[in-house]
Amino acid sequence: MSKVVITNKIPQSAVDALKAEHDVVFYHDADECITREAMLEAVKGADAVVTLLTERVDDEFLDAAGDQLKVVANVAVGYNNIDVPALEKRGVTGTNTPKVLTETTADTAFGLMLMVTRRFGEGERVIRSRTPWQWGMFYMLGMGLQDKTLGIVGMGQIGIAMARRAKAFGMDVIYVDAYELDAEIAEELGARKVEMDELLAESDVVSLHCPLLDSTKHLMDADAFRKMKKTAYLVNSARGPIVDEAALVAALEAGEIAGAGLDVFEDEPTVHEGLLGRDDVVLLPHLGSATIETRTAMADLAAENVLNVLAGKAPVTPVTKA
Ligand code: GLV
Ligand code: GLV
Repeated sequence: MSKVVITNKIPQSAVDALKAEHDVVFYHDADECITREAMLEAVKGADAVVTLLTERVDDEFLDAAGDQLKVVANVAVGYNNIDVPALEKRGVTGTNTPKVLTETTADTAFGLMLMVTRRFGEGERVIRSRTPWQWGMFYMLGMGLQDKTLGIVGMGQIGIAMARRAKAFGMDVIYVDAYELDAEIAEELGARKVEMDELLAESDVVSLHCPLLDSTKHLMDADAFRKMKKTAYLVNSARGPIVDEAALVAALEAGEIAGAGLDVFEDEPTVHEGLLGRDDVVLLPHLGSATIETRTAMADLAAENVLNVLAGKAPVTPVTKA
């Protein structure tokens, strides 16, 4: 039996799977984040830790855990909260939860795109605020998606799932990625690989699906917004810091782009004041993968990763190199 620490409430099936084989020595059974101090205390002596994206896993964390630590299983696909080289240096395995959240997250991105281009959030606010309204030929017109161009930044699994949805809605898809798509998928999607400048200039909607890395931080900055069409929208369901939020506010203010749909923010859970009062933005509280089914699958996968590593087997979805 090894010692497993779970730093936040996760779906019960995953807790049960871990408890069946190991000592779950600490389980923070609450949806509010554990404090940093409490977490550093809790991880002491752990062989495995299950973490959420709200927790920073760095040298301080690894020191607190101790040399016996074998695996950190993040219940998220994005793992910018984990210092991967620090884990590798100590021979600790890090894992994430790709694939199981692909469709749900693409649904969120697509939902944001519909909401912002069709002004659904704005319309909902009109009714809720008891503002008088009536159907009108020119009332609250948005932009149709049919025959428009969607520019996908980062054509991984979620980007591809977004492209499939866009195709079903009659959109053309262009993308930027370091890699060329598999020929079969490229043909299915009719997606064309372009350079970033071309994507910015041609897209009616730019949707971000890349990981947060040093190279993608503030990828969407003042310069990028200036290259977009004035009628174009930005959708971000990836990670907040990929967008320079102050520059986004300035671009919206100056009319350099038409609007934005955001599920993630630069300094979560804080949202830039300049966004809060704007009707041309749709703001969601990081709901990308938030379905019962998907969160359960994510936690189950994290548990499987822990169980594999503790049993001396290969993890299913590692982010560290062995
Ligand atoms: C959610 O944001 C994730 O990375 O899984
Ligand atoms: C709109 O409500 C229509 O009937 O065209």
